[in-house]
Amino acid sequence: MQFSYHNPTAIEFGAGQIKKLSSLIDPKQKVLVVYGGGSIKKNGVYDQVIKALENHTIVEFSGVEVNPTVETMNKAVKIVREEKIDFVLAVGGGSVIDGCKYLVAAALYDGDGWDFLDGTAEVQKALPLGVVLTLAATGSESNNLTVVSKKEIDEKRMYFSNHSYPQFAIMDPSVMVTLTDRQLGNGLVDAFVHTSEQYLTYPNTALVNDGYAETLFRGLVTLADTWEDRRTKEWLENLMHIANQALNFQIGAGVPQDWSTHLIGHELTAYYELDHARSLAVVQPFLLEVMGEDKKEKIAQLGKNVFGIENDNAAVIKAITNVYNKVGVPTKLSAYETDDKVIENVTKALTKNGYTAMGENGNITLEKVKTILTMSMK
Ligand code: NZQ
Ligand code: ZN
Repeated sequence: MQFSYHNPTAIEFGAGQIKKLSSLIDPKQKVLVVYGGGSIKKNGVYDQVIKALENHTIVEFSGVEVNPTVETMNKAVKIVREEKIDFVLAVGGGSVIDGCKYLVAAALYDGDGWDFLDGTAEVQKALPLGVVLTLAATGSESNNLTVVSKKEIDEKRMYFSNHSYPQFAIMDPSVMVTLTDRQLGNGLVDAFVHTSEQYLTYPNTALVNDGYAETLFRGLVTLADTWEDRRTKEWLENLMHIANQALNFQIGAGVPQDWSTHLIGHELTAYYELDHARSLAVVQPFLLEVMGEDKKEKIAQLGKNVFGIENDNAAVIKAITNVYNKVGVPTKLSAYETDDKVIENVTKALTKNGYTAMGENGNITLEKVKTILTMSMK
């Protein structure tokens, strides 16, 4: 085993933590408060943030869309420069946070920020970033991954940079009470797939990674089984905690990973605007079926240690599907409106982005992607 892991994001977890903003950000720093479509104005989060920052000079930027675009975030880049902003505070879910990760880097970069996404340039520096998380799903609040889109060319791309880690993430689960069932279900599925992508590969000897991943899986299964309790404090707390742990990349450190479900899913979102988690749920079960031989030992291990299923990998894949269905997330692409160009669009985009041999063994080819999507559309 060999890995480097350094996660500098301070976590402030629990009800009432938003008021800590007053001390987490130096009052001498001019703050840009960034948010999305306004949900924070309806649930009191905005008021709590403004109150906590009453001794700070703040400027606001709103309107970050779901699946944030460079088109929108470049408007914020302009504001950061004109207003001489020192600190960016993202208040929202993965979209606002990722938009801000791009923003803090693009604002200090002379060229076009899309360079980070298409791999032309690496981030060299960034403004400090803080997060008030309002939706549990992506883990973006304490990881170094940024996913943004360019509307103009229907592309959704990502990059890793250690300059993207937020300085702190305030995680108050009580702010999740205004999430819709759809967003809660999406969050649970996204966290399940994040754990899977760092686990469902080939056997390894890393007891910590497998053991912790299985703990996260069991937690998510329990939350799906107690879906009727989803409005309770305990349920929301656990989803927020698990989703965070599922993608701070600790369970993936030093073990094989396979992010192909995400890579395929991102293209479905880019073309057909499926919610992120929903794009994953229509890919993963079929990908596991198609790649069942490569992944057989880990699927069996998941079955035994998480679902209590022995010697029946088809039943394990069915059990995963049931988890998603229990929280209202469909597992067939045919449940959505697409068109007859799905396979062509997705495979073309994967080719353009260089993802023609995905998976832990580099053998998830475009042919296999075609099979996976065909099965999902039936
Ligand atoms: O725009 P606002 O008003 O904030 O409303 C949002 C949005 O409509 C709403 N919402 C958020 N908190 C709320 C709330 N509504 C009521 N009450 C609250 N407390 O929820 C909607 C969805 O928000 P969004 O931020 O888009 O959801 P999510 O956190 O799932 O983020 C999805 C984005 O993250 C990317 C996805 O690709 C997608 O672009 N990902 C980022 C990752 C990362 N950086 O590590 C990894 C993931 O795999 C993923 O790719
Ligand atoms: Zn995800």
